[in-house]
Amino acid sequence: MPHPDAQIWNARYLSDDNQYLRRQPYSLVRSFVDQLPQGGLALEVAAGMSPVGLFLASKGLRVIAMDISEAGLRLAQQRARRRSLPLNLVVMDLTDPWLPPSGFDVILNFYFLSRPLFECYRQALKPGGWLFFETFSEDNRARSNPAHTLDSGELYSAFQNWDILYWKETWKKRRSGMFPSRRIAQLVARKTI
Ligand SMILES: C[S@@+](CC[C@H](N)C(=O)[O-])C[C@H]1O[C@@H](n2cnc3c(N)ncnc32)[C@H](O)[C@@H]1O
Repeated sequence: MPHPDAQIWNARYLSDDNQYLRRQPYSLVRSFVDQLPQGGLALEVAAGMSPVGLFLASKGLRVIAMDISEAGLRLAQQRARRRSLPLNLVVMDLTDPWLPPSGFDVILNFYFLSRPLFECYRQALKPGGWLFFETFSEDNRARSNPAHTLDSGELYSAFQNWDILYWKETWKKRRSGMFPSRRIAQLVARKTI
């Protein structure tokens, strides 16, 4: 029996209305890309179709895309092959994660929240390694599931001992004007020790 999250997300990725097909590399990573190592190993967690991982693969990094949805990862693999980019896939339930210590130069966490990953990131990044994190944050106007939503200031506090290069809580406009903007938090930080 597949994990319930896998069932939900496989169906989304396989639907005719797969909005993730249109997703472009996030500006948070694009704006720092010139400062990133030219090689090395990057991990994109909850990667889905790997919008940023593939971007870093095109810049010369080796990339592992990790997700619970095999359907999402298969689509990421197809995209990678079309662009002749290498991409390694791992299927994992990231609510109960394990990552190898000091293995990664870059970790990408976009639009997914599993708090046990915070400690994993502290262990799994090499000293000087980069963490890019962007996801939904507490919004007084909207009822959102606290398990999937950062508290205000939480992301900053979680990595405050690192070298924080960028941190912002802001509003993200939806592509369709039918839905209201959502509150997000963004962080770019480097592990100091
Ligand atoms: C909102 S999508 C974001 C995908 C991608 N990061 C992006 O920005 O386009 C959330 C992703 O989390 C993955 N996911 C959901 N629950 C998960 C779990 N328990 N373990 C690992 N990945 C999970 C989904 O399959 C999906 O790809």
